[in-house]
Amino acid sequence: MLPKNNILIVDKLHTSIFQFLENIGFAYEYLPEINREQILEIIPKYDGLIIRSKTKIDKEFLIKAINLKFIARAGAGLDLIDLKEAESKNIQLFSANEGNKDAVAEHTIGMILMLFNKLATANFEVKNNIWQREPNRGIELMGKTWAIIGYGNNGQATAQRLSGFGVKVISYDKFKTNFTDQFAIPASMKYIFENADIVSLHIPLTSETNRLVDKDFLGKFKKNIFLLNIARGEIVVLKDLLAELKSGKVAGACLDVLENEKLANLSADEKLIFNQLIALPNTIFTPHIAGWTHESYIKINEVLVSKIKQFADSELNSL
Ligand code: 3PG
Repeated sequence: MLPKNNILIVDKLHTSIFQFLENIGFAYEYLPEINREQILEIIPKYDGLIIRSKTKIDKEFLIKAINLKFIARAGAGLDLIDLKEAESKNIQLFSANEGNKDAVAEHTIGMILMLFNKLATANFEVKNNIWQREPNRGIELMGKTWAIIGYGNNGQATAQRLSGFGVKVISYDKFKTNFTDQFAIPASMKYIFENADIVSLHIPLTSETNRLVDKDFLGKFKKNIFLLNIARGEIVVLKDLLAELKSGKVAGACLDVLENEKLANLSADEKLIFNQLIALPNTIFTPHIAGWTHESYIKINEVLVSKIKQFADSELNSL
């Protein structure tokens, strides 16, 4: 174990976390309602921090966290953490992508099937005594080329799910080469622009991916594509997506995440764009729940605690 092993949990987690931490001999304080100012007051006394996405872990935060040895993110995205600053302070970062990858992959398949088979409209119509077949004619996945951008945990889990659909799965990952497995073929972005029918995003939000999918990016595809964003809202410029949905370059879109997910606080411009997007028949939305299943709620904790234990053991061995 670490010389001291006192963890602060500042977000709501599944209660399984308590037993998991007790099993590895860690003390914790569970304060899911705590606000940033209160965290900053008490953070100096903790060795470990478990977060979700409530609090930005910026330079000011990390300067105060004088004893912090690790930050464990109960989820995948590390975009709210100042990674450089954490590294300079030798604070280890753990995320739990392995814990929600199955949820994300299943949700991704669910969204495309919902779009292609018009499940939402058909269901709504039948429940309203409307029996229409022709307007609800579907599109098949069979024979399509699906490009997975980012072949990490989520990308791989999605490729695996697609293997039964007769889809050609190609993937681009900036940080990997020669990653062919039985589920996907590595491809350059050039090949993807020339061949993809469906494009799904499985990349983190960084300064490089922020607003990556804009007019210019969408304009590079040879075919009209279907786009799925189950990564981060800031990656897709909604104004440009709307324009390309109108032009037909984007034949349909599934969005689990949005540039601004606080729907009650959209600016006038954001509202105008959002209202047009939701009015289109070929868009599907979900409220950032791709990784949000009953099972992943627990699996995330399992993954995090096993990473914390591994870290604690390695610290102990190096004493
Ligand atoms: C993630 O990064 O794991 C998902 O976006 C969910 O994030 P959340 O813990 O903030 O809900």
